[in-house]
Amino acid sequence: MRIVLVGPPGAGKGTQAAYLAKNLSIPHISTGDLFRANISQGTPLGKQAKQFIDAGDLVPDSVTIGMARERMAQPDAVGGFLLDGFPRNVAQAEALDAALGEDDLALDAVLDLEVPEDEVVKRIAGRRICRNDSSHVFHVSYNPPKRDGVCDACGGELYQREDDNEDTVRKRLEIYHTQTEPIIDYYKAQGLVVTISALGKVTEVTDRAMEALKRDA
Ligand code: AP5
Ligand code: ZN
Repeated sequence: MRIVLVGPPGAGKGTQAAYLAKNLSIPHISTGDLFRANISQGTPLGKQAKQFIDAGDLVPDSVTIGMARERMAQPDAVGGFLLDGFPRNVAQAEALDAALGEDDLALDAVLDLEVPEDEVVKRIAGRRICRNDSSHVFHVSYNPPKRDGVCDACGGELYQREDDNEDTVRKRLEIYHTQTEPIIDYYKAQGLVVTISALGKVTEVTDRAMEALKRDA
């Protein structure tokens, strides 16, 4: 299956993607994670992306589209993938359609996670991520690690993302509304959008998503 996950910052895209990708046996491709890995390794791409991410802005399409295409061309993504954080504007959605079209492929579904804004702000404020593996995501009150600051899964150090401060979150939400939400209409016109509520326990949201994908994809 080829799925796009869309939703505001803090909706739980990364959290859900880890479970959905496993259930569906497809790789989880997160452009945010790819950028953060490049930043921590100090690559030229990471250096280009850092200033935009720290400011809560989108990284320019000229950088992002090439990086996403390269990742989608890896052998593990040939049979399908779960895209998280890409596409993030209409130009990226068009570029994705064009890239898939070159191989006579198409998306199966766009899963839209709906969460009220006050909940998103609470989720982001308490998020902690493992330095060893970005799929190990915790929340200080909703999903606390057993030991403060230590990852339950691997013992790694938990940290707070630099772009998870109040000002940057506000900017990211504004960009979500102005630039990313229009892709929902773009995909609605193709009959691909499945909207679910992302409120409730993580496992409840995963079950809801799996049901919706079975029904509509
Ligand atoms: P990216 O990493 O994609 O960030 P984002 O879209 O802002 O999304 P987040 O990672 O903040 O949230 P999430 O929805 O994954 O939530 P999570 O599962 O962690 O992008 C970062 C930056 O990179 C962008 O701002 C941009 O600069 C750049 N970028 C990336 N892609 C780009 C692109 N295509 N083009 C241009 N620029 C791009 O959950 C949040 C918290 O809530 C966690 O603590 C979790 O434990 C908790 N939680 C999750 N589910 C639940 C639940 N059901 N109940 C209670 N708590 C929950
Ligand atoms: Zn870990």
